[in-house]
Amino acid sequence: MTVHFIGVGPGAADLITLRGRDLIAACPVCLYAGSLVPEALLQHCPPGARIVNTAPLSLDEIMAEISLAHDAGQDVARLHSGDLSIWSAMGEQLRRLRALGIPYDVTPGVPSFAAAAAALGAELTLPGLAQSVVLTRTSGRASAMPEGETLEAFAKTGATLAIHLSVHVLAEVQARLTPHYGPDCPVAVVFRASWPDQRVERATLATLNPAMGEGERTALILVGPALAAEGFDESRLYAGDYDRRYRPVGTTPRFPESA
Ligand SMILES: C[S@@+](CC[C@H](N)C(=O)[O-])C[C@H]1O[C@@H](n2cnc3c(N)ncnc32)[C@H](O)[C@@H]1O
Repeated sequence: MTVHFIGVGPGAADLITLRGRDLIAACPVCLYAGSLVPEALLQHCPPGARIVNTAPLSLDEIMAEISLAHDAGQDVARLHSGDLSIWSAMGEQLRRLRALGIPYDVTPGVPSFAAAAAALGAELTLPGLAQSVVLTRTSGRASAMPEGETLEAFAKTGATLAIHLSVHVLAEVQARLTPHYGPDCPVAVVFRASWPDQRVERATLATLNPAMGEGERTALILVGPALAAEGFDESRLYAGDYDRRYRPVGTTPRFPESA
């Protein structure tokens, strides 16, 4: 018996990996985080599967469901939105499973920041402008931010910020970032990326309207010069005179063995 943790992607039912879909189809028990996992994915469950929405359950109750399946020798598909490496609450479940000696594995998924960038048609790392993406959030009721992980500290780097779980405090984000990025810095707020009702709002830090964050909470705030830039350098990797392993250039290429 194994608990298969599966990142099911940002919302569109076809943005799950083939591995994730096949695991769902093979498991007689499916536990899904109902707040963000699309119900359409449950159609992959085999007939007669036990399907449980864990949104209203406590960690103890979720573990009780898993223990029940373990005692019955039934594999479990454990679905979380996006990818499991960020804000999935997988860590605490894995710790309990290790303590109980219950086997598990992890299948990655498309994270929401990637779906938001796709909605914008944007590369978040542009040569000379931004070569880092910071996946972060502001502090919430359930999770305080560790000291040092402040928006201001990340903003000082000039990297592209992908701010999660924070659209309800847009005014605060705007006020804290403007001194560092400047009022003309581009911002995009992507609501429900990849869902049928996806919505994209573009602005600058100066023109951002904080009221747009008052309704829908499933949104990402992307901030940084890479978001609107046309004036960036082309990557050296594809320059005609750039000698590299897969495209040797010149009479004495750097990687002659692959020439
Ligand atoms: C609990 S976190 C889950 C993150 C998820 N594990 C991931 O890989 O993106 C929920 C937050 O992720 C962001 N989010 C998740 N799905 C989204 C989507 N489809 N569009 C925009 N933001 C999304 C929002 O900031 C939301 O408040």
